[in-house]
Order: sequence, then C-alpha cells, then structure tokens
Amino acid sequence: MKTSLIALAFAVVSFNAGAADIANGANLAKAKACASCHGADFNKPIDPSYPKLAGQHPDYLAHALIAYKRGSGANGRNNPIMAGQVAALSDKDIADIAAYLGSLPGSMATGHR
Ligand code: HEC
Repeated sequence: MKTSLIALAFAVVSFNAGAADIANGANLAKAKACASCHGADFNKPIDPSYPKLAGQHPDYLAHALIAYKRGSGANGRNNPIMAGQVAALSDKDIADIAAYLGSLPGSMATGHR
C-alpha cells in the first residue's frame, strides 16, 4: 500500500515536470515584450501583417517558434524580426510561452472573416 502511494507520488511529480508552465510562459512573454508587436492581450497586433497569437493552438505556436530558431535551414522560417526574439529561448521556454499564449482568449475563427 505504502509503496504504491510513493510510486503514485513520483508519477505525479514527473508528469508536472514535463508539463508546460503557463505562469513561466507569461513571465517570459512579459520580459521579452512580445506584446509590443503582437498587441494588447496578444489579440490586437500593432500592424495587420503581424499575427494574432491569443488562443492559437500551443502546438502550432511552439512549432512556429522553433522554426524561427532554425532560421533559413530545413523546416525553418526565415524572419529576421522573430529570429532575434527566439534566439535565446530554450525548448522549455518555447513550450511555456506557447502554452500561455494558447490559454488566452482570442478571436481566432475558422472559415470566412
Ligand atoms: C518587433 C516586433 C515583434 C516582437 C517583439 C515579437 N514578434 Fe512575433 N512576430 C512578429 C512578426 C512581424 C511576425 C510574422 C513573421 C513572419 O512573417 O513569419 C511574428 C510571428 C510570430 C509567431 C508566428 C505566428 C503564426 O501564426 O505563425 C509567433 C508564435 C510569435 N511571433 C511569437 C512571439 C513571441 C513569443 C514573442 C516574444 C518572445 C514575439 N513574437 C515578439 C513580430 C514580433
């Protein structure tokens, strides 16, 4: 009985270690001033060509950020503005930021606008 409780406790701890940390993502987004371009609530970009991020799928956002990090190579995105933004972020930072942005209420919609 005791052993299985300990095993369960370990299972919970390791699950948390792997999960994205939304609070850390919020802190990073603030520290990096991502909203200075992507806009208030990440839903009102300062320029129409800048993407809205609020409510976008975290998987997609993380994939995009990793692609900017890769740069112009295979499976990369070549954008000088975003390359500078992501250069110093670890994979864990990216996962946390993506989870935070995805958790925000957004005006994303499918179909015609
Ligand atoms: C100086 C302005 C600026 C800042 C600051 C900035 N971005 Fe961006 N971001 C852009 C632009 C412009 C694009 C579109 C680039 C392109 O065409 O690929 C973009 C694209 C993105 C995308 C891809 C979205 C999609 O739908 O494909 C993500 C995700 C993103 N930014 C996240 C961030 C995060 C996180 C930060 C803070 C660490 C940040 N950005 C800071 C200007 C900025």
